[in-house]
Amino acid sequence: MAQKLVVGNWKLNGSLAANEALLGAIGALDGVEVAVCVPFPYLAQAASRPRGVALGAQTVSEFQSGAYTGEVSAEMLADLGCRYVIVGHSERRALFGEDDAMVGRKAAAALRAGLTPIVCVGESLAEREAGRVLEVVGRQLDAVLAVVGAQALARGVIAYEPVWAIGTGRAASVDEAQAVHADIRRWLAGQGAATVRVLYGGSVKADNAAALFAAPGIDGGLIGGASLVANDFMSICRTAVASGA
Ligand code: 13P
Repeated sequence: MAQKLVVGNWKLNGSLAANEALLGAIGALDGVEVAVCVPFPYLAQAASRPRGVALGAQTVSEFQSGAYTGEVSAEMLADLGCRYVIVGHSERRALFGEDDAMVGRKAAAALRAGLTPIVCVGESLAEREAGRVLEVVGRQLDAVLAVVGAQALARGVIAYEPVWAIGTGRAASVDEAQAVHADIRRWLAGQGAATVRVLYGGSVKADNAAALFAAPGIDGGLIGGASLVANDFMSICRTAVASGA
């Protein structure tokens, strides 16, 4: 089994002082890859410490440079030492009008700059209840594939984040997560991209991480709220070591 990847998504949280405390209390661990995706203004702060923790951003412009006021390019993120960037988070899709095609273009921008996009996919509760999980996730994945191509896709990471599990305290059950991960893996294998890591996100906490990470096909987690509490985040990372290689 490969080493797991645990990524903290701080979302719209933090201050220089709060980050200092949080970054001072988290660190790299043998046997797991740890990353934090922080707000743009704090990338430089997070880049300077802690050692061994990979840096990432939470979104990226589809454009490289030019008259795009307010945008941040993948090249800028790479310049600041980012390895990862989240694209297509459901909050970006729902609140900021990012559609499937734009998510594909953002993934392509990240790959062009040598970053690893963490492509988020996942269904809403209504879509799940209508039995449309596979259709929705498949459509989201196909859109990215159509823009980046199978070869580049193989350099990315997928995060399955059911919308109804995000920030609700109601994580997918192991069976629910595992079933969708298996479908995503089948789809990836069909594109010749079987080695792509597939993370689970949505109310991952210190007390449910072990069961989720032990499930076949779950290669780690994308952690929201619990990544803001150093003890909880490190406890999740230690769980990933225990269930890794
Ligand atoms: P929570 O862990 O707070 O549910 O957030 C998950 C998420 O959206 C990570 O990207």
